[in-house]
Amino acid sequence: MRTSPMPIVVLISGNGSNLQALIDSQARGELPVEIRVVISNRSDAYGLVRARKAGIETIVLSHRDFPSREAYDAKLMELIDARQPELVVLAGFMRILSERFVNHYLGRLINIHPSLLPAFRGLDTHERALRAGVKEHGCSVHFVTPELDAGPIIIQARVPVLDGDTPSTLAARVQTQEHRIYPLAVKWIAEGRIQMRDDGVYKDGIRQESPPVLEADTVATES
Ligand code: GAR
Repeated sequence: MRTSPMPIVVLISGNGSNLQALIDSQARGELPVEIRVVISNRSDAYGLVRARKAGIETIVLSHRDFPSREAYDAKLMELIDARQPELVVLAGFMRILSERFVNHYLGRLINIHPSLLPAFRGLDTHERALRAGVKEHGCSVHFVTPELDAGPIIIQARVPVLDGDTPSTLAARVQTQEHRIYPLAVKWIAEGRIQMRDDGVYKDGIRQESPPVLEADTVATES
């Protein structure tokens, strides 16, 4: 058991509601982490305001100031490594990461994606789910590997798709679940209960054949 909070760095591009869920969970004493810095590639990301309100250091690193993805990611790595995090948390960071970046943080880099992976990798997941006519949709927390949205999954949450749903009503239902499973996944990692190995995700030393899937209407009894 660790005695000090796990240092983490959070990367964002926008609203930062998942960042807020982490901040709130930490403030309630449920998440043993210390957010050392929040880095955004966009200066107008509302998540920066959320971080500052919580007294967390913020950095804006605009991709427009760099000639290439590799150059941007090298600077990003420098900023992150200076804070010595044990985990890098992508919370709506809307950039493709270079292979060098991903490999540098392999097993220490996680993402939340708004679909039940492997369904709907990439962008516009809610629109695509509605167009495909699926009855269930959701979100996934996964370790990041070089192939986009294809890393081993830690936990998922499922929501129903309802008659009359629009991309925004469906997104809102999914986001409620994101705010539940992301802090939980980070907590498991901080407690040393989750590891990524070559053949998948291990929880409490046992390989997960398939990730746990929370249902939207269940009471939050998971620990
Ligand atoms: C979240 O819904 C997250 O799943 C999605 O961006 C949103 C960020 O919201 N991430 C991706 O699409 C990654 N490919 P937030 O800024 O309010 O946390």
